[in-house]
Amino acid sequence: MGGNFFSGSIPVELGQLTALQIALNISHNNLSGLIPSSLGNLRMLESLYLNHNQLSGEIPTSIGVLPSLMECNLSNNNLAGSNHCHLFPSPSSAPNPGWLKETSEKEKIVSIVSFCIGVISLTFIVAVCWVMRAQKSTFASLEDQLKTDDLDSYYFPKEGFSYQDLVEATGNFSDTAIVGKGACGVVYKAVMTGGEVIAVKKLKSREKELVLTTVSVQKYRLLGQIRHKNIVKLYGFCYHQDNNLILYEYMANGSLGEVLHGNETAGMLDWDARYRIALGAAEGLCYLHYDCKPQIIHRDIKSNNILLDEYFEAHVGDFGLAKLIDFSLSKSMSAVAGSYGYIAPEYAYTMKVTEKCDIYSFGVVLLELITGKSPVQPLEQGGDLVTWVRRSIQKLEIASQIFDHRIDLSSKRTTEEMSLVLKIALFCTSTSPLNRPTMREVIAMLIDAREGGTTSLPSPTSETPLDGEDFC
Ligand SMILES: Nc1ncnc2c1ncn2[C@@H]1O[C@H](COP(=O)(O)OP(=O)(O)OP(=O)(O)O)[C@@H](O)[C@H]1O
Ligand SMILES: [Mg+2]
Repeated sequence: MGGNFFSGSIPVELGQLTALQIALNISHNNLSGLIPSSLGNLRMLESLYLNHNQLSGEIPTSIGVLPSLMECNLSNNNLAGSNHCHLFPSPSSAPNPGWLKETSEKEKIVSIVSFCIGVISLTFIVAVCWVMRAQKSTFASLEDQLKTDDLDSYYFPKEGFSYQDLVEATGNFSDTAIVGKGACGVVYKAVMTGGEVIAVKKLKSREKELVLTTVSVQKYRLLGQIRHKNIVKLYGFCYHQDNNLILYEYMANGSLGEVLHGNETAGMLDWDARYRIALGAAEGLCYLHYDCKPQIIHRDIKSNNILLDEYFEAHVGDFGLAKLIDFSLSKSMSAVAGSYGYIAPEYAYTMKVTEKCDIYSFGVVLLELITGKSPVQPLEQGGDLVTWVRRSIQKLEIASQIFDHRIDLSSKRTTEEMSLVLKIALFCTSTSPLNRPTMREVIAMLIDAREGGTTSLPSPTSETPLDGEDFC
């Protein structure tokens, strides 16, 4: 009721509101006359505001002894004695000593209770912080953990191994345990005491800092949870002093890149094995695109990141790692934005990675499987495999000149299937990302190619102009 134009005296009947608890505010009006002593009946009242009126006379004793009153403002009236009844009581001018006494006792009680509550709250907060700190040390981010140089840091999605276990399992990271080397580091085969074999990637020193500052346990947890038959399992991460290790499922036959382009292994994959690798890798990539939440764009699809198990089944590897290494700090293009020969053309001018960049890179892998050629070609032949294949088709070269000579091409069924997969590869490597298929469509087309080839894509040996946009 405060802030109105009420005039006249305060109604005596207000004293009948005995259940009124929080506040009675009739301040900033034009009320005059005496304060009715009936307000002393408001025994539950906690705040009373009668200030900024024309009230006069003595403050009733009954108000001074209200047991619940915590705050009372009687200022800017014409009252005899103090205008403030709670906040600024003046002992000398107090209208009612009894009320003041009550107030100061109440203040004392309030102070003691507040103090006790304060102490209890403080103790509680300290206890909660202590518990959180204790928990944090278990699940702390690697960045936090790594501040303590003398401690090893581990993160394993499943039960893990200590750094010492890994040292023993790799013969102290001896050269004989090396299974491959990449731009980011060296990969070792680790045979654990229980007989389990895992792959351990030891990152190069320049990558260490990068991973340490950008990796969080949360990211590793998410990546470590990915389970698909065509995806290399991420077992964990281990930091020990200067060594930064990533633990993966071991792939007995290494990478597709090595098998296809290595001297010793050249020609060991027949067309059927290559087709199954293409389909398996497509399924792994499709899983990353469609079934992971949030979606994972691989960003570095290449034959070196398609690993082969003992049955030559394809497993997509190194997903997520590219994201964990900060591009601005890394000199390794291959770790972040893809590898030369696999990078989608639009990436150069948009610098934006989309799933269509993965599709392009996957198309290049298909071309590698079909031609047996490396993604990087001599400049006079176009500089990259996509250009080489398109130029070859433009020159109306016969399929046998494009297909890998190491494959037995005597079967018509094989060459027909290869022709269809070549069409899919060209579709995937369309210059415009809009014209590229999705991974689901790629899988459907691959299956279709084997089952009879009802795809309506243009023949790779047709006269379709290839240098322009949208060949497929
Ligand atoms: N999980 C694994 N199991 C078995 N061998 C592996 C595994 N991961 C990698 N390798 C081997 O190590 C090699 C190097 O792999 P790595 O991922 O370090 O480099 P990359 O993929 O060739 O290049 P980049 O560093 O640019 O990704 C692979 O070609 C493969 O032979
Ligand atoms: Mg790799």
